[in-house]
Amino acid sequence: MGLFIWAHRGASARAPENTLAAFFAALEDGADGIELDIQLTRDGVPVVLHDVTLDRTTDGRGRLCRWLLRDLRRLDAGSWFDNRFAGEPVPLLEEVLSLFGGRLRLNLELKDGAAARPVLDLVRRFPRAEVVLSSFNRRLLRQLRQHDAGLPLAVLTDQRFWRPALAAARRLGAESLNPRVSLVGPALVAACRRRGLAVVPWTVDGDGPLRRMRRFGVDGLFSNDPAAARRVLRYDQP
Ligand code: G3P
Ligand code: MG
Repeated sequence: MGLFIWAHRGASARAPENTLAAFFAALEDGADGIELDIQLTRDGVPVVLHDVTLDRTTDGRGRLCRWLLRDLRRLDAGSWFDNRFAGEPVPLLEEVLSLFGGRLRLNLELKDGAAARPVLDLVRRFPRAEVVLSSFNRRLLRQLRQHDAGLPLAVLTDQRFWRPALAAARRLGAESLNPRVSLVGPALVAACRRRGLAVVPWTVDGDGPLRRMRRFGVDGLFSNDPAAARRVLRYDQP
């Protein structure tokens, strides 16, 4: 297999991000895995949403952490993208694990500092699901590691000085460093290689950036359009 292609928030170029529709689209488009952002509701249930607030991607208002699950589930997380997706709910992590766990690898990006325990408890109920847990929050990653020595972890960074993130990834026994695409160059790739870490940048779209990442020798990448990424990375000559 070539580069591992993660559908960023699902196939979010053609379906509303972080919805089941976007995850089914990713499956259809031949992605190897899906990335989804996890936060907790006020009653502590792990759900899939990127922003701290509901305003951009649903018809709800305010901070997600103030909403109870039963009220959140009435919201429409699809219409903002296109009327064809009206009525798409904010998914539960549990639904994603159950629907996609055995079919695609799942990259659960934990946005919420309190999410370690509830997410781990849930993931353990789906032993067939192939997951990697990722975060910008290193404290959270350390908690995950303390709870589970074998859990696949990835460290995210958007810092121009990426070496501390690399050192943290090593200490945690993470499988990869996932940097913002603009940080990736020969120095970063070589430093990861020396430490046995994979490099998986986000978010990579467009022929030029996709080819540049392949040239640098990254191991995988996050794309909003996995079908286009596949066309460029699998069927083109470098
Ligand atoms: O996991 C990669 C990427 O999703 C990190 O940034 O803001 O899109 O969650 P963001
Ligand atoms: Mg994310």
